[in-house]
Amino acid sequence: MKRSHHCNQLRTENAGSPATLVGWIDSLRDHGGVFFLDLRDREGKTQVVLDPENQTLAELFSELKPESVIEVSGEVRNREESTANPNLDTGEIELFAQTIIVHNRSQTPPFPLDDSADKVGEDLRLTYRYLDLRRVSNLQALKLRHQASMAIRTFFDDQGFLEIETPILFKSTPEGAREFLAPSRLNPGKFYALPQSPQQYKQMLMVAGVERYYQLARCFRDEDLRADRQPEFTQVDLEMSFIDREDMYALIEGLLKEVWQKTLGEAIQTPFLRMPFEEAMNRFGSDKPDMRFDLEIVDFSEDFRNSDFKVFAGAVSSGGAVKAFNAKGLADITQGELKHLEETAKSLGAKGLAFIKSENGEWKSPILKFLSDSEQETLKSKLAVEDGDIVFFAAGPWESSCNILGRTRLEAASLLEKRGASLRDPKDWKFLWVIDFPLMMHDEEEGRFVASHHPFTSPVEEDIPLLDSDPQKVRGQHYDIVLNGVELGGGSIRIHQPELQKKVFEDILKIPADVVKSRFGYMLEAFTFGAPPHGGIALGLDRMVAILTGRESIRDVIAFPKTQKGQDLMTDSPGSATDKQLRDLKIQSVEEDA
Ligand code: AMO
Ligand code: AMP
Repeated sequence: MKRSHHCNQLRTENAGSPATLVGWIDSLRDHGGVFFLDLRDREGKTQVVLDPENQTLAELFSELKPESVIEVSGEVRNREESTANPNLDTGEIELFAQTIIVHNRSQTPPFPLDDSADKVGEDLRLTYRYLDLRRVSNLQALKLRHQASMAIRTFFDDQGFLEIETPILFKSTPEGAREFLAPSRLNPGKFYALPQSPQQYKQMLMVAGVERYYQLARCFRDEDLRADRQPEFTQVDLEMSFIDREDMYALIEGLLKEVWQKTLGEAIQTPFLRMPFEEAMNRFGSDKPDMRFDLEIVDFSEDFRNSDFKVFAGAVSSGGAVKAFNAKGLADITQGELKHLEETAKSLGAKGLAFIKSENGEWKSPILKFLSDSEQETLKSKLAVEDGDIVFFAAGPWESSCNILGRTRLEAASLLEKRGASLRDPKDWKFLWVIDFPLMMHDEEEGRFVASHHPFTSPVEEDIPLLDSDPQKVRGQHYDIVLNGVELGGGSIRIHQPELQKKVFEDILKIPADVVKSRFGYMLEAFTFGAPPHGGIALGLDRMVAILTGRESIRDVIAFPKTQKGQDLMTDSPGSATDKQLRDLKIQSVEEDA
């Protein structure tokens, strides 16, 4: 079997020549005894018309069904101008079929393989993912993902990086997420953990003298899944020696420029904006702010410190903050929408979501009676309140007030968009470096400090003396790259001094010395054999491709994604193990087989 052309190749200059095409039947049409079909392959479609004199073909046609795989040989002919299809690249010609070979007959697919399938339940589409992927939009997403990967590989190769594979069978790491374990048959009772990231290996590659490493690395995290999280996903992972943060910003800006150019043909502006974590939280209520629209948050803590409104004054006196933002033009919010915002705020720990509406020259609010004239004036002027606006408040601990309003700000943007505003153009690329994160955060539940990113992040040099006296003030040399409200990636300059690393593990993070020794002993030792200063970053490839293709979920840009419950519906995974497998592994399952 040999095709002479693919289905998006023949043009008028081929008219009169013989051609053989292979592919899937996209559609069949009987125009009063003249039989047409559209043949489709990965590249596109070509119209096939059957020789009306050929009785065998006519009989075959009546048995054909869409999605069957056929091979068609015949002659390329120009279509008459009136029947040309300007929407198709091959629309000016057709293949006049003389022979058709049926390679595989298809049943009727369980859902239509066009855009209307978006309305079909995702579970059905994932069960028949091989059919779902046949849809043009999904094949295009896979193609763009390939182009992005190629651009990344070429870029790193040009920059002198080595692509190196690191083990999938690893051991437990402290990066936060729950891990997948794989039992070791040869070491009964012992487990590998699948890597949450190649973090430790890539640092060892720097000690090994590799200097520049990268990998399109598979990572595994047993997390609760969402639209932007899968249990296995791909990182563009890299590490470099002898660099500082500026080198990393320049490198990643160059990389993303290249990817955008090679996939979308778009030139993005560099350098990217930079914003300290604290400012991002204060102004946008998020460590991954969407910079495409304003609705900025304003601090009113000092204005309400001595207020008669106890909810606000109380928040300030107990060390918290009062914050508000003006959702411009949303005073026509419905009761239902307001209730939804309030419930969302409460799910984030808010006690309520106070608001003030400005309608017909009047301020309306359940809290108005608590606010003095001068407080109202301050609000009006600092938030530039006009008729038709609504202001939302959060009062409480600083971080949670920021988060609550950050979330409300995004919800308000959706509500404004529902009313026709255009705030978030998917093609408006607002890249941002978020920097100066605190090195640690206090974990109330565990009653100790935990690393904001991971424990290998180096403190900002001038903050090192604060490690003992005021650890919460220490900034980490960590950076996140954010695009349109999505955390695309994160990384840091690492600790490469064994004493400092040991201090962070034991004195600051309070990891017991024996645990440090068993988990990280090899690392601490490695750092005593000539460790270069180094740093790195990892970008979520799935998230990047989802943004590039304008998809809502990373499931749409992964060939075989898992459901919310971590299942692959096509292969019915995860599955049970046989008794023999479990015996070999010396494992007993207490869960009955479903
Ligand atoms: P981090 O944990 O921030 O850093 O991960 C880097 C990026 O990986 C993507 N990502 C995910 N994508 C899909 N599904 C998931 N479950 C998921 N989890 C993370 C995100 C994220 O920004 N070792 C460090 C990097 C470093 O310091 O060099 C790390 O893994 O886009
Ligand atoms: P209360 O006096 O508790 O009935 O609250 C008056 C209004 O303020 C209600 O609309 C509450 O939803 C709102 N509210 C209460 N606590 C807070 C808070 N911590 N932050 C923002 N709004 C609040």
